[in-house]
Amino acid sequence: MHNTRLVCDNIYWIGASDRIVARFENMFPLNEGIAYNSYLILDEKTAVIDTVDNAVGGVFLENIEYLLQGRTLDYLVVNHMEPDHCANIRNVVLRYPDVKIVGNAKTFKFLEQFYDGISVDSYLLVKDKDILDLGSRKLSFHLAPMVHWPEVMVTYEEKNNVLFSSDAFGNFGALNGNIFSDEVEFNVNEFRRYYSNVIARFGSNVQALLKKIHALNPKIIAPLHGVVHVGSAVSSVLNLYHLWSTYQSECSGVVIAYASMYGNTAEVCQKLATYLAMRGVKDIQIFDVSHTHPSYIIEKVFKYSNLVVATPNYNTRLYFPMESFLSELAFLNIQNRKMCFITNMTWGGTALAQAKEIFSKNKNIEYIAEDFNIQSSMKENQISELTCFADAILESLKEK
Ligand code: FEO
Repeated sequence: MHNTRLVCDNIYWIGASDRIVARFENMFPLNEGIAYNSYLILDEKTAVIDTVDNAVGGVFLENIEYLLQGRTLDYLVVNHMEPDHCANIRNVVLRYPDVKIVGNAKTFKFLEQFYDGISVDSYLLVKDKDILDLGSRKLSFHLAPMVHWPEVMVTYEEKNNVLFSSDAFGNFGALNGNIFSDEVEFNVNEFRRYYSNVIARFGSNVQALLKKIHALNPKIIAPLHGVVHVGSAVSSVLNLYHLWSTYQSECSGVVIAYASMYGNTAEVCQKLATYLAMRGVKDIQIFDVSHTHPSYIIEKVFKYSNLVVATPNYNTRLYFPMESFLSELAFLNIQNRKMCFITNMTWGGTALAQAKEIFSKNKNIEYIAEDFNIQSSMKENQISELTCFADAILESLKEK
């Protein structure tokens, strides 16, 4: 059954939500599902902006048929060739064989890699800033490589100042009937988790896109996942993307990420958190890397200024879940953070050196306290040392 909403002026949302899928890209947990957005424009010519994941292809195709009311579909704009958005291109072409597929050179390369049987005669190749006239309005196309794949572009509808932003400004979470940012309580934590885990690696590319977006000055940002940003939310999400893509923290606060096999390293972290709390620190987040999916910890590291890493050695090296978490965080290009380390070594190992080596290529990682080392468990005579450790963190928090 068709299920659409009007965005504005004959621009319709024709997407759908999936609450069955457990993980985005089979990697990131989805506690509340995910929305795959697509948009249809009715003008003298008709255009669909991106398709949807296979999971919701049925309602998507019904939506197009319902809104077209017997008209033909003239254009299918493909901003992004990841299968959560391009999986229904063939279905669209089968139903509307005269449709022109609008994409850039890389779009068509990936299209041919993923799918067979789509004629090159249907291709409409565009370059950066090319314009497509739909009748009463024009669409312009703007390349946005690596936000989040190499072929990504965004599409701008100039009459109503609508930016179809591809993955950029997307969010985890299914939609619940309300599709606009001013209709819902915006989940900024999931918005940050989406950015920090999916988009963050290529911050300079995001900066290049932001420059283009500021020149376009959109009033509506319509991404491929999550709510459509309207009103003051537009400048809010642009500001957040600027902060995150320059790897600045949003605020002072401490993330304590620990690994602990028998609770001894965890105990030190709890004590440290208590010392910080006693010194007035409010924003303290403790995570066990063996328990919490790294995407949630990474989200908080992108928010806060400080990271404490606490880890035991395992078979003389860095404990595997901690290595995995730190490697992912470093690969996502985290910068400008104040860090310090707690290690636990019962009989030897290189965990601390390995952990530091992981961040050796990340810019502006400042070590703000002497490493705090325990041997198997913390002892009474180490309390003053841990107190100094907490004081050093407190001093660094005051600098922000
Ligand atoms: Fe939502 Fe990069 O795909």
